[in-house]
Amino acid sequence: MRVGSVDISIPVLLAPMAAVTDLPFRTVCEELGAGFTITEFLSAHAITAGDPKTIAKMTPSLDGRPFGVQIFGREPERMIDAARTALSIGASLVDINMGCPAKRVVAGACGSALMREPQLAQEIVRAVRSALPDRVPVTVKHRAGWDDLHLDAPEFACAMVEAGASMITVHGRTRTQGFSGTVNRDVIRRVRDALPAHVPVVGNGDVVTVEDERRMREETGCDAVMIGRGAMGNPWLFARLRAVRSGSPDPGAPTLIERRKVFLRHIELLGRLRPGAKLLHEVRKASAWYVKGLYGGGALRARVWNLVRPEDVVSSVLEHIDQLTARSPTPVVTIPAATASAQALRAAPRVPPSVEPNGLHAGPP
Ligand SMILES: Cc1cc2nc3c(=O)[nH]c(=O)nc-3n(C[C@H](O)[C@H](O)[C@H](O)COP(=O)(O)O)c2cc1C
Repeated sequence: MRVGSVDISIPVLLAPMAAVTDLPFRTVCEELGAGFTITEFLSAHAITAGDPKTIAKMTPSLDGRPFGVQIFGREPERMIDAARTALSIGASLVDINMGCPAKRVVAGACGSALMREPQLAQEIVRAVRSALPDRVPVTVKHRAGWDDLHLDAPEFACAMVEAGASMITVHGRTRTQGFSGTVNRDVIRRVRDALPAHVPVVGNGDVVTVEDERRMREETGCDAVMIGRGAMGNPWLFARLRAVRSGSPDPGAPTLIERRKVFLRHIELLGRLRPGAKLLHEVRKASAWYVKGLYGGGALRARVWNLVRPEDVVSSVLEHIDQLTARSPTPVVTIPAATASAQALRAAPRVPPSVEPNGLHAGPP
């Protein structure tokens, strides 16, 4: 897929998510097969005021991989300055948030509130477009509309493209819905139908399985799919989609060994890229993700929240995974012959019936 001059070879994107898509998580997803990642939304006001916390979140992907920076605001001059800052750190594209439903953002008439001010939204896109070199596309992410009575994403997307946007991402929910209810794929299809073919449309919302991704593509005709919550604790979804899209069989859920490896990679990246006072919180958060769905994962999550040293959190998770690994891969559990001793029965590895070989919790234990 091409976005202006930027080539995205795997059309499966990681969604920008505040307090989630930091550099370590983006890196894990990229290494597993996400085709493109974007920073969480960053306030143009905070960037131009030189707020160090916001500026620290504007991080280029590792190893020279292309990446996007998402900004939000409503003052064209500040948006220009913020976009130039993104350019200065090597952003391949600048995405403008017009979809955030959060009260504090909408109260400032930013994010999804801009869908109610299409002229100002256009002015912002035009200003940012004209401030950046042609090689850096400006893109917009918005919602299906403000509410069910205003499902005007197709008209809004056309206005953004007319102002200079090179790609449109549609989260198929209204602002009023927030994150509840279902995603309206029909609106995304209407956006695809309304825009010129050379402008990619990215379908977003509730893609958590390989099947969801196929449905999003088939029902909307979108050029790429963006995955948010479905990647939290399950970055392997990108690897599965990459495999399936290239014609290989779905590799399925990760083995415990793979889970351990990626968890350690994530922790290593956190230690290197997010050191300092927040490390413990970030390690706990990541740990909770990697045990999600595992047998005994709920109790472990609660336990790690009480530990106060990052290394203790990590070793608890590793211990848990190792215990599951030790009893889970049971290639052959032979049924002892009628004559076999009770001892032979006891020696057979005891796997709770509800634990699958990859450690996933298949049902109530
Ligand atoms: C915790 C969280 C933070 C989010 N932060 C952002 C953000 O910074 N920028 C943005 O455009 N959307 C943000 N979103 C919305 C997601 O990008 C995405 O549009 C939405 O979650 C629907 O996709 P999903 O069902 O795949 O999660 C956020 C969503 C969540 C759950």
